Formats: sequence, structure tokens, C-alpha cells
Amino acid sequence: MPLSGKIALVTGASRGIGAATAIELAKRGAHVVITARTQGGLEETDDAIRKSGGTATLLPLDLAQGDKLEHIGPTLYERFGRLDILVANAGSLGVLSPVQDIQPDDWTEALAVNVTANWRLIRSTARLLLAAEAGRAVFVTSRIVLHPTAYWGTYGATKAALHHLIQCWAGETATSTLRINLADPGPVATALRRGGFPGEDQSKLPHPTDIAPGIADMCGPAETRHGELVRVSPIPL
Ligand SMILES: NC(=O)c1ccc[n+]([C@@H]2O[C@H](COP(=O)([O-])OP(=O)(O)OC[C@H]3O[C@@H](n4cnc5c(N)ncnc54)[C@H](OP(=O)(O)O)[C@@H]3O)[C@@H](O)[C@H]2O)c1
Repeated sequence: MPLSGKIALVTGASRGIGAATAIELAKRGAHVVITARTQGGLEETDDAIRKSGGTATLLPLDLAQGDKLEHIGPTLYERFGRLDILVANAGSLGVLSPVQDIQPDDWTEALAVNVTANWRLIRSTARLLLAAEAGRAVFVTSRIVLHPTAYWGTYGATKAALHHLIQCWAGETATSTLRINLADPGPVATALRRGGFPGEDQSKLPHPTDIAPGIADMCGPAETRHGELVRVSPIPL
């Protein structure tokens, strides 16, 4: 149980990659604080965690309501006295559209979830992660930032902003014991992927459970990488 005694916060844990990662972290011994908007999805993740012998705390939350995120770090400190692992996985595809037709509400929502929420989470949890013996932060992103793609401007621009922010934070914390990385899951059979590729046969894609072990490895005490974009997919580049 390499993560025994550790507290992990996982965003976007109501389904998909976040749910699978929360279950994997709990299997490795961490107590997992799981967050998303959908209470029913969080309960399903919690059920799976309990079935595998782990424990979780549910924290229903809309990441687009940025100022509420300021309370997360202090609340975790009050409840657990620590935070060892942050998996910032929640993401929004926005709406695929020519750049000139992107609607303000769609832009604002994707920016709020993919960028602003992660900055707020860092503000709120950095002191706890830096105080942990082997603090780990993983931000789930997409390789699209290296390959700008027509109609994917909202998603790509927000993930590119996330990359920049995280690599700056990694530079600022290089001499600490905190290891901060970006995880690239490649294509995965999830609701978000279906939004971008509605006609695709998802049975041929990796499942979230194929991705979760790689992300959980990035949260382990043995992780030495820092500020890197790490491919966590069975599909080679
Ligand atoms: N699937 C892929 O092929 C792929 C490829 C590259 C990168 N990624 C990245 O992987 C991450 C996970 O996505 P996924 O594929 O697992 O998608 P998913 O199954 O659709 O899950 C997205 C998660 O984000 C949460 N979320 C979205 N908006 C939120 C909000 N406003 N407040 C709180 N939580 C919110 C959702 O929870 P609620 O709806 O319950 O709030 C859900 O738990 C994302 O960052 C995505 O960009 C995915």
C-alpha cells in the first residue's frame, strides 16, 4: 500500500478518468477526497472505492464557481491536517466551433474549468502540498496543445494556458520535494471524448482504467519527474 496514510484530492471524479484514478489511488491506500458536480456520479465512485476496500470523502462542487475553491485547502487542513496529492483532472471540452464563432458563455465556462479552477486550486492547496513529505500534483491535459487543430480553439487554448501555468509553478517549486507534472491520457472512452467525436466506436479506445495506473504512479513517493508532460496511454505516440 504505497499511498497508505496519504490524503488525495481528485477533481472530476464523478466519471471517466477522474473516477478511475480515484479508485486506483484508494486501492493503493490513499484516502481520496472526490469532487465534481454530479452527486450520483460521486456516489458511484465511492461505492467502487468501498468495494475495493478503500475510503473516500465526497465533496460536490462546481469548479466554475471559482471563489468557493479558496475554502478547499483550509477545509482539508481542518478535517485531515494535510494534503499529499492533488489530481486536477476535471475538464471541459467547451463547444467545437470556428474561432470567430465561439460564444462568450462557452468560452467563459471552458476557461473557468480548465484554467481558472486549477489556478484557484493551486492557491488553495499549495501550502499543504509543499508541507507534505512527498507532495504530488498531476494536471490532466491534452497533447492538442502541441498540435493546434481547426475548430478545437477553445479546448486547445485553455489547455495551453494550463500548461504554461503549471510549468511556471514547477519552475518555482523545483527545489522543494513537491513534484508537479502534466498527464496526457491520449484518446480515452469517456463522455468528454464522445462530445468531440460523436460517431466514434469507443469500444476500440482505451478505457479510463487503462489510464488510471499511470496517473497513480505519478502520485507515488518514487516519482522524480517535475514539470513534464507525461504520456499515460497504452497507445504509443
Ligand atoms: N477522454 C479523452 O480522450 C481525453 C483526452 C485528452 C485529455 N482528456 C482530459 O481528461 C480529463 C478528464 O476527462 P474525461 O475524458 O474523463 O471526461 P469526462 O468523463 O467527461 O469527465 C469530466 C469530469 O470533469 C468534471 N467536470 C466538468 N465540468 C465541471 C465543473 N464545472 N465542476 C466540477 N467538475 C466538472 C465532470 O463532473 P460533473 O459533470 O459531475 O461535474 C467529470 O467528472 C479532462 O481534463 C480532459 O480534458 C481526456
